[in-house]
Amino acid sequence: QVKIDTDRAERTEKLQGMGCKRKRVEDIRFTQGKGSYVDDLKLPGMLFGDFVRSPHAHARIVSIDTSRAKALPGVIAVLTAADLKPLGLHYMPTLAGDVQAVLAEEKVLFQNQEVAFVIAEDRYIASDATELVDVVYEALPCIVDPFKSMLPDAPILREDIQDKMVGAHGPRKHPNHIFEWQIGDKQATDDVFAKADVTIKEMLVDHRTHPSPLETCQSVASFDKVKGELTLWGTFQAPHVIRTVVSLISGLPEHKIHVIAPDIGGGFGNKVGAYAGYVCSVVGSIVLGVPVKWVEDRMENLSTTSFARDYHMTTELAATKDGKILGMRVHVLADHGAFDACADPSKWPAGFMNICTGSYDIPVAHLLVDGVYTNKASGGVAYRCSFRVTEAVFAIERAIEVLAQKLGMDAAELRIKNFIKAEQFPYHSALGWEYDSGDYHTAMKKAMDAIDYKALRAEQAEKREAFKRGETRELMGIGISFFTEIVGAGPAKNCDILGIAMFDSAEIRIHPTGSVIARMGTKSQGQGHETTYAQIIATELGIPADDIMIEEGNTDTAPYGLGTYGSRSTPVAGAATAVAARKIKAKAQMIAAHMLEVHEGDLEWDIDRFRVKGLPEKFKTMKEIAWSAYNAPPPNLEPGLEAVNYYEPPNMTYPFGAYFCVMDIDVDTGVAKTRRFYALDDCGTRINPMIIEGQVHGGLTEAFACAMGQEIRYDEMGNVMGASFMDFFLPTAVETPKWETDFTVTPSPHHPIGAKGVGESPHVGGVPCFSNAVNDAYAFLDAGHIQMPHDAWRLWQVGERLGLHG
Ligand code: CDP
Repeated sequence: QVKIDTDRAERTEKLQGMGCKRKRVEDIRFTQGKGSYVDDLKLPGMLFGDFVRSPHAHARIVSIDTSRAKALPGVIAVLTAADLKPLGLHYMPTLAGDVQAVLAEEKVLFQNQEVAFVIAEDRYIASDATELVDVVYEALPCIVDPFKSMLPDAPILREDIQDKMVGAHGPRKHPNHIFEWQIGDKQATDDVFAKADVTIKEMLVDHRTHPSPLETCQSVASFDKVKGELTLWGTFQAPHVIRTVVSLISGLPEHKIHVIAPDIGGGFGNKVGAYAGYVCSVVGSIVLGVPVKWVEDRMENLSTTSFARDYHMTTELAATKDGKILGMRVHVLADHGAFDACADPSKWPAGFMNICTGSYDIPVAHLLVDGVYTNKASGGVAYRCSFRVTEAVFAIERAIEVLAQKLGMDAAELRIKNFIKAEQFPYHSALGWEYDSGDYHTAMKKAMDAIDYKALRAEQAEKREAFKRGETRELMGIGISFFTEIVGAGPAKNCDILGIAMFDSAEIRIHPTGSVIARMGTKSQGQGHETTYAQIIATELGIPADDIMIEEGNTDTAPYGLGTYGSRSTPVAGAATAVAARKIKAKAQMIAAHMLEVHEGDLEWDIDRFRVKGLPEKFKTMKEIAWSAYNAPPPNLEPGLEAVNYYEPPNMTYPFGAYFCVMDIDVDTGVAKTRRFYALDDCGTRINPMIIEGQVHGGLTEAFACAMGQEIRYDEMGNVMGASFMDFFLPTAVETPKWETDFTVTPSPHHPIGAKGVGESPHVGGVPCFSNAVNDAYAFLDAGHIQMPHDAWRLWQVGERLGLHG
């Protein structure tokens, strides 16, 4: 028995399957500088495009004169809206049912908007030539404050849709209004608020920021005039969707479009949508018949491609005196910038904001979201979260702290009192979701024990007394956040992009020698898919992960998928992988039975082989079965060993976590130091604990950035501030706190391997945790809610406001 157990342990270990801390296979090329990114692509005869951009936030275009630019040696062409208009390409559809200018025609609506596209022999000439395009503007009054957007005398921004008073999501209340979306029971919620013992109301701003991946957005278009085929390389989180959109916009048949997303250096939502640069490189290549490359610089990326957040959330809670939450009411003013280019599933104009009741059993709720236009860049992408979940979690996790303070209750105790109980799952929330599984009390207890919550509160009480006595100038804050994410979009009934249902896919082929190639509809941007999908297949099929190659991003070879964002890869394509593997395994069982001359039912699976029940020495390994599949398949069974699965998830998955942050703030300088940050995550079955830890580290770092400084701000003229890394806070190892990670495991009941997504959870839970720590530090001084971002300058101002500086 001992020998058999050792043998089984060895065979399991050799697979490097699920649960194993397998090293990231992709890092071999990344750490050696051998990754292959879009900008690495150099094609014969390739030209380079660069944009002329508007210096104004809102202005009429009086004239565009391209003659000086065209005369510059090396300039091949200059495109303006006048060139695109006859092709119907001066506007492109957005994912949110709006249209967006590719090149501005009559007006510019935000600073740095694309006005003309210069194509030249090299990048430097193209860049020089952009300065030779003479554009005469007539400046118009601009709107940067979303609260002023719908005033009666506000300037009308979108004249192109001025008369269209019904938008993609229903009636518009004002020419600068985009949509009103509401959900929940308004009457019942209002009734609860009218009668409640205690209510709180706070304006919580989740400020405008940007995903800022290290690699900017880029594309190379190469049109073969003879074959009539277009190959488009680009930084695409969803290559198949791009292929369909390009086909619909250009009229090129979809099979003659080859979209390739090579290695991608981070996405975080920024690379989901379609940008003017993609369209212009394609048009340029079709017109000129040679490849055209477009590569954004950092300032262009930060100031023109999809922003994130900009939600102004008036958040209310109603509760009993002893802290039972009875209702939630939220009104969101959503600043969408100049075009509604939010990357949400079609039916969800405010994404999954209605997860805002969070981890709590709140009987009634009502949410109303108004989207408005302003003179800012468009977008509204899910920056490392699933469609506005960061905003939702920020609203509830800040609001619950405000409520705790009003009730004079401990914030952890208030959460525990209102948690959805383990036996309530699957849980139906007041705003329409069905949470698949969770055990919040266990996770919270583990987290509180791990950080010794009681001792921290005791220390804080002492420090507060010392501060009052003037013995210290330091404030101690304890931040808590208990979040529930919703990831894995999604069931077709809920989620689609441009009418394409949000399934995902996996195709697995086992070669005669037992090695494997698997292709997915998703696309890694650094999350380690090549490592982890192989681990799923390894466990399912008993083939070592090292013998499995994972390929993504080429629409010619990968099955159609909706791509990677919203932590959907594991919940959807991960499920497709397991199901495809199981199809193969079922066929392998038939082959094994034929080889062993027994009935299929007499076989049992044993790690990497089928063996005859009761006769462990009679078996066939997957490797042997693979060979047989191509050489001697059973009669009436087709040769080969491969399968494809398009997986439509029955529900989304609901990862959760308990986060604690201990922070010390110097009131005189406003400098905040994170002393401890503890993150407990539950993402169901864990495929690769090391990769999960890496995802948590990365997500927390981005949460730290957003909460503590990162911002895309505009001055009153609509000039974008913070459009370079001089001003936009990107934490380095110097600023980044040390992370402590932990976990519980509550599998998803509907996912084939029980896994939930994890990539975004730490960001979603992290942002409110940092903000709560800051707010908690000042809470005993009656500071009121302190808005993010909490950089030293702003925290110094809080001290000034409170008269703490003497
Ligand atoms: O869609 P995206 O890849 O951004 O997010 P994800 O599905 O949460 O996966 C991020 C990474 O974490 C992938 O490499 C997953 O395989 C891994 N992961 C895991 O090891 N176990 C889980 N339960 C969830 C994700």
